[in-house]
Amino acid sequence: MEENKKYYITTPIYYPSGDFHVGTCYCTIMADTLARYKRLRGYDVFFMTGTDEHGQKIQEKANAQGITPKEFVDEFVRRAKDLWKVLDISYDKYMRTTDDYHVKAVQKIFEKLLEKGDIYKGEYKGLYCTPCESFWTPTQLVDGKCPDCGREVKEVSEEAYFFKLSKYADRLLAYYDEHPEFLEPEIRKNEMVKNFFEKGLEDLCVTRTTIEWGIPILSDPKHTVYVWLDALTNYITALGYTTDEDEMFKKYWPADMHLVGKEIFRFHSIIWPAILMALDLPLPKKVFGHGWLVVNGKKISKSFGNYKDPRIYIRDTSRDALRYYLVKEITFGDDGNFSEDLFVERVNSDLSNDLGNLVSRVTAMTEKYNNGIVVKNDNLPVEDIDKELIDCAKETITNFENYMDEYKTNEAISEIWKLISKANKYIDLSTPWILAKEEKTDRLNQVLYNLLETIRIVTIPLQCFFVDTPTKIFEQIGVAKEDTTWESSKTFGVLKDGTKVTKGEILFPRIEKTEELFKVEEEEEPQEDKKNIITIDELDKVELKVGQILTVEKVPKAKKLYKLSVDVGEKTPRTIVSGLVPYYTEEELQGKQVVVVTNLKPAKLCGIESQGMLLAAGDDDVVKLLVLDNNAGVLENGSNIH
Ligand code: MSP
Repeated sequence: MEENKKYYITTPIYYPSGDFHVGTCYCTIMADTLARYKRLRGYDVFFMTGTDEHGQKIQEKANAQGITPKEFVDEFVRRAKDLWKVLDISYDKYMRTTDDYHVKAVQKIFEKLLEKGDIYKGEYKGLYCTPCESFWTPTQLVDGKCPDCGREVKEVSEEAYFFKLSKYADRLLAYYDEHPEFLEPEIRKNEMVKNFFEKGLEDLCVTRTTIEWGIPILSDPKHTVYVWLDALTNYITALGYTTDEDEMFKKYWPADMHLVGKEIFRFHSIIWPAILMALDLPLPKKVFGHGWLVVNGKKISKSFGNYKDPRIYIRDTSRDALRYYLVKEITFGDDGNFSEDLFVERVNSDLSNDLGNLVSRVTAMTEKYNNGIVVKNDNLPVEDIDKELIDCAKETITNFENYMDEYKTNEAISEIWKLISKANKYIDLSTPWILAKEEKTDRLNQVLYNLLETIRIVTIPLQCFFVDTPTKIFEQIGVAKEDTTWESSKTFGVLKDGTKVTKGEILFPRIEKTEELFKVEEEEEPQEDKKNIITIDELDKVELKVGQILTVEKVPKAKKLYKLSVDVGEKTPRTIVSGLVPYYTEEELQGKQVVVVTNLKPAKLCGIESQGMLLAAGDDDVVKLLVLDNNAGVLENGSNIH
């Protein structure tokens, strides 16, 4: 393998929020397609994906579930890896920003930039909601109030560290000019330069003192690294940058391709190169901003409710069908509509009719007319229709390479289909069934050979998109492994004389549009109703008691948590941690008689063991504690509640 034939490709590292949908899978499927292509072309590929695991939101979600943030992200990573397995994503490394090597490297990078003067201490100004301990921008406010709890916000400032982004503006602009291939597609580059550089680049806040679930700064540990310095550096820390074991870094950096969604393109094209410039490191060769998958014009996203688990599409078709549709139907770089109807149409026409039929007709005819044995005879004259097919096969591979090298993936795939339809037409023109009837055996075998050889050639580039089908086709036409290499796709006539062809199962069964198609099964939906039915015995297991709140303290650094001591009629009061800060003041809680679950397994919240739970009603906006009505009669603390 040539020394310079390496290809380091990355996807963004995902936030552990919500579930994956076809939109979020899109980027990873595209990256996988490119990685597979480069591997076929003989590159030493390093393909990396992973998760972006720090931040306030993660901490809050974990708190709400009564688990640690690490437990929360571990569970997400398990599910993510599971899905990548289902889709057969061929990543070489799964990086996590909670990995020890990353934490240490980010700390070192921070100190290095601080020492260099590219990071400095300043003040972060913002609109602050005291009960929620959150900063907001003016546009995030709802009716001028905190969007979380609806209370007044005030203008405050907080000590923070900043990265001198503004210092790099001119160097960045010069770099874009000198390296026109750096940012793609062109339209995104233009948008980005217009929207951000014309307004002037502001320095970037890189630490916060209010976010506990983050990487602490070594020289000032009350600060944790804030978002982008933590997230973007993953691309180098995962290769061992800053450590003694940095062979991977030396080998693979700079990245050849950062593939990202359009909304995070600017972070990768402004902040990331500026950080690399500050670290005196070479910049990635390319940042490619792909578009979004939309449904009726709206981005597919969990919050819009227009998503389904990709496994539903795989269940009713196949992973190859889903992968094909995404690459074929969406122009790489643009937004693309995800339409279930069109998906079915593509499966039935492109996969079942064109490709599937070609393979099944040709293998069936070879079995029927020649017991499945390939006959290669180079001494026969080549007819015009043969020449056209052979030329088309050669052109297909050349055009395919050109399109793939320019990241025009859907045009590349269309090239393959041109050859497939040429081969189907060749069957109609050469009429093997008439040749068989007329016992023109030599010509019949020659026609079958040309078709089988075309199938072999077509299947080689298909390996970039499909993960199961190529193996099935290669098996059916009996081709030897060494005759499936990229180089071999450039020669017509590789399939060996005497090869045994066996007609196999249907590659892509036709899809019927029924009510059941792509239906979210009940068990795949959250089963709220069923989940809520418990027996009286089960209810009896929950021990509810009257408790009185004796003392109330805020948990330092936690946005919503109070530490309460609650008398439930035992020798010593219980410590209970409860997320009531946005809804009750300390005075309001003091002395209240409330309902306490006393036999709940203790859980640690922000390092404090919570020995029970207070019952409350409401959702994220309004929460009301279940409080005993004191006028109804006096109940002692510790009284049972039935
Ligand atoms: N954590 C950051 C990335 C940091 S990279 C140093 C992030 N994560 S994310 O989970 O919110 O998004 C991951 C990727 O999914 C992004 O590239 C985003 O564009 C992509 N998509 C999310 N919804 C999408 C669609 N509906 N369509 C296509 N891609 C979409 O951002």
